Amino acid sequence: MDTLHALMKGPLPSLFFCIGNPVVGNPTQYMMEEAFLDMNFPGQYITCEVEPNQLQTALEGLKALKVAGGNVTAPFKQLVFPYLDSFTESARLSNAVNCITLQADGTYQGDNTDGKGFLQSLQEQVGNLSERRVVLFGAGGAASAIAVELVLCEVQEVILVNRTREKAEALVQRLRGVTKTTVSTQAWEGTYQIEEDGLVVVQATSVGLFDEKRCIDVAFSQGLQDVIACDVVFNPTDTAFLKRAREVGATTLDGLGMLVNQGVLGLQNWTGMVPDALVMKTALEKAFKL
Ligand code: ATR
Repeated sequence: MDTLHALMKGPLPSLFFCIGNPVVGNPTQYMMEEAFLDMNFPGQYITCEVEPNQLQTALEGLKALKVAGGNVTAPFKQLVFPYLDSFTESARLSNAVNCITLQADGTYQGDNTDGKGFLQSLQEQVGNLSERRVVLFGAGGAASAIAVELVLCEVQEVILVNRTREKAEALVQRLRGVTKTTVSTQAWEGTYQIEEDGLVVVQATSVGLFDEKRCIDVAFSQGLQDVIACDVVFNPTDTAFLKRAREVGATTLDGLGMLVNQGVLGLQNWTGMVPDALVMKTALEKAFKL
């Protein structure tokens, strides 16, 4: 991008943002900047820490600056709903927005690309999911987004297992009847034993983030050659959960692919262009080494 030309003759670069609290430790800006450079797209991305009681003011300010889009992270994924004009089905069903895009008519649309990013990684690994049963641990933001996409792509069954069962029940209520996928909850009392071959098992709680020794209370029976074990935790990439699954022969899928893919989908929303996922993955790997 030729900055001098943009300043003197226009058009000005498109502005993008990430809002959250805390945001230090979030490498999205770096990933997006590397992608913009690689795509030769004139975009500028800023990372902003917003106080929770300033969310409305912050979004009004960003809109006044004519931002072209942005990312939303904790604790604002649900709180942004009143300040946006329209929502994708993924955002509505998961009750969370992680990506905002300026539309041609000047309105702002909320989307959720987390679950779609996960699904893309899973499909790349497994192919057709229609015969698969999925055990999904968690019922927070990440788990909800994933559950929505699993149901929309019509996997055979989703079983939600969460420490607080009521949260899983509430998610089931939102998803029941959306498609023909069977959705239910199971209690998580003591160690949850994975013993059925062919399952897709998704670790979508926050346990294990920044702690390579921590793992949810789960055990795998021996000889599960056809189990796919996935973790949404991306730092570390090789979590204790994935190591445990690999020990019994399961195939594993780490959280980095989901993180990259949700960014790819966001960039597609914003620019209409397809960025290079490898450039973005390399940027993240560099950031996590710091
Ligand atoms: P995220 O956006 O990463 O999904 P979140 O919305 O705060 O974060 O959700 C965190 C998830 O991790 C929840 O499912 C939470 O379980 P509860 O609903 O019972 O709180 C789960 N979680 C957090 N700590 C956990 C632990 N020690 N054991 C099991 N689950 C845990």
